[in-house]
Amino acid sequence: MLSTSTVELTSPTATDIQGIFDRIAPVYDELNQRLSLGLHRVWKHMAVRWSGATAGDTALDVCCGSGDLAIMLASQVGAAGTVYGLDFSSEQLGVAQRRSHQAYLPTPIHWIQGDALALPLANQSIDAATMAYGLRNLTDIPTGLSELRRVLKPGAKAAILDFHRPQSSWAEQFQRWYLEHIVVPTACNLGLTDEYAYIAPSVERFPTGPEQVQLAHGAGFSQAVHYPIAAGLMGVLVVSYGHDLG
Ligand SMILES: C[S@@+](CC[C@H](N)C(=O)[O-])C[C@H]1O[C@@H](n2cnc3c(N)ncnc32)[C@H](O)[C@@H]1O
Repeated sequence: MLSTSTVELTSPTATDIQGIFDRIAPVYDELNQRLSLGLHRVWKHMAVRWSGATAGDTALDVCCGSGDLAIMLASQVGAAGTVYGLDFSSEQLGVAQRRSHQAYLPTPIHWIQGDALALPLANQSIDAATMAYGLRNLTDIPTGLSELRRVLKPGAKAAILDFHRPQSSWAEQFQRWYLEHIVVPTACNLGLTDEYAYIAPSVERFPTGPEQVQLAHGAGFSQAVHYPIAAGLMGVLVVSYGHDLG
């Protein structure tokens, strides 16, 4: 069980997930930085690059949390571009908004409190999209992918970064050890044991790279490639439809 008796580890509801991310918002950035030794920003930059976002684009970061990728996208699309960052956690969006105001970005970011499973955006309106550590947290992954497909223009790409269960047994053992013995105790020191206990089971349940590719095809993406990175501990799913992935 997570911190309240209503939160099941096996299948948290959207309300549970929203509550978790609201509660951890004050320490989320610092924890990410410490737990990944800063590497999460390298992986996020890769996702932004693989989304193909260029100057003047309209870009979207789904499950934007405290805003890392939306801020990177703003630098990528420049003054002529437009960036939307969407999340359902008001606390995470509050942090994102404060950070973006302090970042002197070339274009302001439009922060949207909304649901990744029902994006409040028009069909075929987005030139490039990203999602980092969001897909694993969706209560309905196929619907999340279908929504991305709906809002992307033909030929536009989405790059989806998340944990990945590595193929090699040493990497899998390392990942399990790291989550149990580093992530949870570090969170515990900040009084967030229960909030971070959900990570290991969520990685266990998360579809593998090939399964993600299948799901993407099911959501209407004709092009879908999953790239394991960081020794297979992380992965980036790059999807598109209408044109070949460049
Ligand atoms: C692990 S955080 C990742 C945040 C950010 N992308 C990053 O990498 O730092 C996952 C985020 O997904 C958001 N989220 C989960 N399900 C969502 C949904 N259905 N709609 C909108 N946001 C959602 C949570 O509120 C949380 O901010």
